[in-house]
Amino acid sequence: MAVIAHNCPNLQVTVVDLNQEKISRWNDPDLSKIPVFEPGLEKVVKETRFKNLHFSTNFEEAIKKADIIFISVNTPTKEKGVGAGHASDLRFVESSARLVSKFSQGHTIVVEKSTVPIRTAATIMSILDSNKDPKDSKTFDVLSNPEFLAEGTAINDLQFPDRVLIGGNNSLAIDALEKIYLNWVKKEKIIRTNLWSSELSKLSANAFLAQRVSSINAIAELCEVTGADINEVAYAIGEDRRIGSKFLQAGPGFGGSCFTKDILNLVYLCEYFGLNEASNYWKEVIKINNYQKNRISKVVADKLFGTLTQKKIAILGFSFKSNTNDTRQSASIKICKNLLEEGAYLAIHDPKVSKLQIAIDLECEEISNHSNCDYINKWQFFEKIEDAVYSADAIIILCDWDCYKNLDWKEISNMMRAPSWLLDTRNVVSKKLLKDTNLNVWKLGLG
Ligand SMILES: NC(=O)c1ccc[n+]([C@@H]2O[C@H](COP(=O)([O-])OP(=O)(O)OC[C@H]3O[C@@H](n4cnc5c(N)ncnc54)[C@H](O)[C@@H]3O)[C@@H](O)[C@H]2O)c1
Repeated sequence: MAVIAHNCPNLQVTVVDLNQEKISRWNDPDLSKIPVFEPGLEKVVKETRFKNLHFSTNFEEAIKKADIIFISVNTPTKEKGVGAGHASDLRFVESSARLVSKFSQGHTIVVEKSTVPIRTAATIMSILDSNKDPKDSKTFDVLSNPEFLAEGTAINDLQFPDRVLIGGNNSLAIDALEKIYLNWVKKEKIIRTNLWSSELSKLSANAFLAQRVSSINAIAELCEVTGADINEVAYAIGEDRRIGSKFLQAGPGFGGSCFTKDILNLVYLCEYFGLNEASNYWKEVIKINNYQKNRISKVVADKLFGTLTQKKIAILGFSFKSNTNDTRQSASIKICKNLLEEGAYLAIHDPKVSKLQIAIDLECEEISNHSNCDYINKWQFFEKIEDAVYSADAIIILCDWDCYKNLDWKEISNMMRAPSWLLDTRNVVSKKLLKDTNLNVWKLGLG
């Protein structure tokens, strides 16, 4: 929404959220307090906030005034009931639609921005229509306009999108939304489809991206046992234009709030329609991803003589990838839990993730009273890399933050307890920097 406000100074954009604390942080005069870390975001917010970009919890007022409403709420995986563990939980989408239905005035275009299962637009439409009073003149159009941005490069992705997808049944409504994007996106980049194609394209795009990660990770393991080098293989296959070079970096497994949830959703949809082979196919993508995290934990234990008890392991990187403070579904969470389970003591560093967030992810959020957590006193958060690695038996790089790329490994290896290990799951450390160190090195995907 900030990018829309930035590109469309004549539009008033109001972001409404139930969460008062989040909205207060978005309104905080100190821009470093806004809840999301994303390169370039502070600048965009600074230039638009309180001018044509507003943050509020006042639904009634915002909905009444709006001509177009983007539903961008969370659509997590259902935890109970029919489809638990696979299907999307649409209660937040539903409650948003009910609010729109109640407070809107005149004609309103409702845009699905959240990632939703196919045919959700029909659900939204029936909720919107349910509150209609025969006397009032409320009317609605529902459009699907899925978001393809990637965290870490979100501002750039939004400013220069590969494409903008708008699905709908009414071409006038599509025109109205298209007009907004035309302020900064070329017409040929705007794809118009029917509602269901648009909804399904988003789930499919994420499934394809996640599948590439699982594919390259599966090849990485084969490289390790055969003597091939995953970087060389990735380069060689990526030069084929039919394959392309993007998204071919082997690593500890995909994370983020979307890939797992969206594939699970696809799996559920396939099962719902009796397409069991298709459902099994997509399930395997997640299976490989989970396997990768457990495999890395096992490699660490194997390298450290089969036991991690009373060993200090430095974890470099906790977010699910660099340039974001988002830890949702981060591979680091599962790997850290596995290592703690094995008895290791963890010294965790991340340039943007807070100690509290790590505590929440490791289920130790009650850090103040030290209750309810098996891992209390078994891990510590360090703001400085040198403090995290001091006297460590092993360092595991789990995230490709720039600050890990050019460290003085000679100095670090002297600070560690020998025999010391560097396990680089992101292939961020060059061979050159490791020359003349005492480190034993394991790199993911290197035979
Ligand atoms: N995060 C991404 O990179 C990304 C990319 C593409 C698509 N998406 C999709 O966008 C959607 C949102 O993702 P997110 O990561 O921003 O989720 P999020 O959980 O970070 O934010 C969702 C927000 O919606 C608010 N909310 C819930 N119900 C509400 C209601 N009835 N009215 C107003 N606010 C309400 C919550 O308080 C929360 O702040 C999801 O469907 C996701 O799949 C996310």
